[in-house]
Amino acid sequence: MKLSLYQRLALSVCCAFIIITSLLFYWSNSLAEHSKFQAEQKLHNQLAEHLAHDNPLLQDGVYDKKALKNLFHTLMLLGPAFEFYFLDPAGNIITYSADANKIKRKKVELSPLVNLIANPNTVPVFGDDPRHLNKKKIFSAAPIYHGENLQGYLYVIIGGEIYDSIFRQVKNDKHLQQYGALFIGALLLLLLILLAVFRYFTAPIKQLAREMKRLKAVKFDQTKVTLSLWENEQSNEVHMLGATFNTMVKQINQQFSQLTENDRIRRELLAHLSHDLRTPLATMQGYIETMVMKGDLLTASERIDYLATAQRNGMQLKRLIDQIFELAHLEDGQVTVNLETFAIGELLHDILAKFSLKAKEKNISLSLQPQQCRFIVYSDIAKLERIITNLLENAIRHTNKKGEIAIIVSQLTDRIRVAVTDNGSGISKEDIAYIFDARYRASNAIEDSSPHAGLGLAISQKLTKILNSELFVESKLGQGSSFSLSLQLVNH
Ligand SMILES: Nc1ncnc2c1ncn2[C@@H]1O[C@H](COP(=O)(O)OP(=O)(O)OP(=O)(O)O)[C@@H](O)[C@H]1O
Ligand SMILES: [Mg+2]
Repeated sequence: MKLSLYQRLALSVCCAFIIITSLLFYWSNSLAEHSKFQAEQKLHNQLAEHLAHDNPLLQDGVYDKKALKNLFHTLMLLGPAFEFYFLDPAGNIITYSADANKIKRKKVELSPLVNLIANPNTVPVFGDDPRHLNKKKIFSAAPIYHGENLQGYLYVIIGGEIYDSIFRQVKNDKHLQQYGALFIGALLLLLLILLAVFRYFTAPIKQLAREMKRLKAVKFDQTKVTLSLWENEQSNEVHMLGATFNTMVKQINQQFSQLTENDRIRRELLAHLSHDLRTPLATMQGYIETMVMKGDLLTASERIDYLATAQRNGMQLKRLIDQIFELAHLEDGQVTVNLETFAIGELLHDILAKFSLKAKEKNISLSLQPQQCRFIVYSDIAKLERIITNLLENAIRHTNKKGEIAIIVSQLTDRIRVAVTDNGSGISKEDIAYIFDARYRASNAIEDSSPHAGLGLAISQKLTKILNSELFVESKLGQGSSFSLSLQLVNH
């Protein structure tokens, strides 16, 4: 049997309610009865003794049993709550005032009488009721002597049969029954209120559980289920749970769509890159095949020409593969950084020297500003060199003849800014947002002898992040571009 939280709570409360009310009822009843017996027995404890002492029939032992029976009769008329018996020393009932068929016992157990006579304060003590075979009642008792000889006992049952029947009538009284019904009704009302309160407080939990179940059924796809809006109240734990659950679902969905998108981009990148690789590979293969087929038919100069083309394509292929591996390695996140203190000016001069020939070919002026750059920085030389090389490569390719390219170093409190600026083609506003994406080549991209996969800036941006900086770009179409990053300055 599967019960909901509310049903389990309600069932538990009902069970606890029934057990507690029955126990209370039983306990208060038995306590009231015990106290009643205690009080009555204490009150009438001396009754038998006084009778034995004061009555001439009993004073010197019992000889006239008939007169004693009459006495009992009179006493029972005066005090209907009592029943009087005379017992012999063995407990046999000798004299009483009642119909013979009403007396069910011939003998009464004497030990309770002896106990009560010896310890009159340890009440209530129950003795055998002569009118019932297995009923016990409170009593008063006194021994009857003739001189030194024990003649028997005067045994007075307190709350006799007549008392019991009248008491039962009173108990069955309509008013008392009404009071009882009212009491039970009030308890039932309390129970109903409790159940309603439980229902009220468990309703949000039920709703939350229902929503969780529905969401599970659609594999936690938030778009397929409308979730209730929970107020993020600190004082209401269920609402807090609901709000947290909603945020969690939203986050999971966001992360999931991000993952799917990343996966899509990665697959697309792979497809494009394999296409990029195929072109130089196919060219290289084509030239080699021609050489194999034509063999000796080729002139020496043709052969050298073919070999040079195959070699160039091989180099391009290597460059592309190196770039792809570099990017994959950077994305993997397992890159080691070798930080050291060095003079940035020296490094920048060295890099510029590598490009001086290319710049001369295009009649572009290359400079470092300021020329005497004495800053000492704390960074990774190899990675920084890779970034600046990529930026300079791009700048030279996108700057026309007689253009100007400069590396400008400036100080910003405890860091320095290194900017590679050119007065080349510049990048359009639409393109700028995407130039750092792998595979993206802007509309101004220039083709030259080597193939470009659009990985240079993606690699540079990742490397800059590893160096704890960010790669910024400022560019205006037709006016030029400036790519910059900052480095940690070392104080001397
Ligand atoms: N200094 C620049 N001036 C103008 N456009 C630039 C400049 N630098 C980059 N770009 C544009 O940004 C694009 C992306 O540059 P990125 O370096 O990532 O790729 P790429 O140079 O085309 O290819 P690769 O670097 O893989 O050889 C370039 O294709 C180019 O259109
Ligand atoms: Mg590039």
